[in-house]
Amino acid sequence: MKKLILYFSVEYGNTKKVAEALQQKLNCDIFEIVPKIPYTKDDINWRKLTSRCNKEWLKKKDIETQGEIANLDSYDTIYVGFPIWYGCAPLVVSSFLKKHNLQGKNIYVFATSGGSQLGKTVQKLEPFVEGAKIVDAKLTQTEQEIIDWIK
Ligand SMILES: Cc1cc2nc3c(=O)[nH]c(=O)nc-3n(C[C@H](O)[C@H](O)[C@H](O)COP(=O)(O)O)c2cc1C
Repeated sequence: MKKLILYFSVEYGNTKKVAEALQQKLNCDIFEIVPKIPYTKDDINWRKLTSRCNKEWLKKKDIETQGEIANLDSYDTIYVGFPIWYGCAPLVVSSFLKKHNLQGKNIYVFATSGGSQLGKTVQKLEPFVEGAKIVDAKLTQTEQEIIDWIK
C-alpha cells in the first residue's frame, strides 16, 4: 500500500511546509506540481486585474506542468495539497490531476488558505479525479494539524 503526496505551493511556501511535514510523518514519496512556466510574484498578484493568475482563471485553460510522476500505478493513496485559489483548487492542480489516470485511488485533500474555508473545494475537484475517491479533506495552516489529521 504505497502513498504519494502531490502538492502545489508558490506564494509563501505554506502548503510546501505542510506537505513536507506530512511526508516526514508518512515517510512516503512526494511530488511538487510546478507549472511549465513557473509563477513569478507578479503572476500571482490577484489584486491586479490583468495578472497571469486572473487571466488563467478567466480562460480556464489547462496549465502545462513540469516532470512526470514515476510509477503512478504503484500508489493506492494520494494526498493532494494546494493553496485555495478563488475559493477552490488552483487550475494548475486540477489540470494536472485530470491528465493522470487515478482510477481506484483514495485521495486525501489538504489545503491552506488566506482565510477561506474549504467550501465546495472537494465537490469542484471531483470531476478532475474520475474513478478515484476523495476520502477526506482538511484545511490547515500548521504542521501539527496535518499530523493530527492523519493519525
Ligand atoms: C491567485 C490567488 C488566489 C487566492 N485565492 C484565495 C481565496 O479564494 N481564499 C483564500 O482564503 N485565500 C486565497 N489565496 C491565498 C492563499 O490560499 C494562501 O496565501 C495560501 O496559504 C498560500 O499557500 P502557498 O504559500 O503554499 O502558495 C489566494 C492566493 C492567490 C495567489
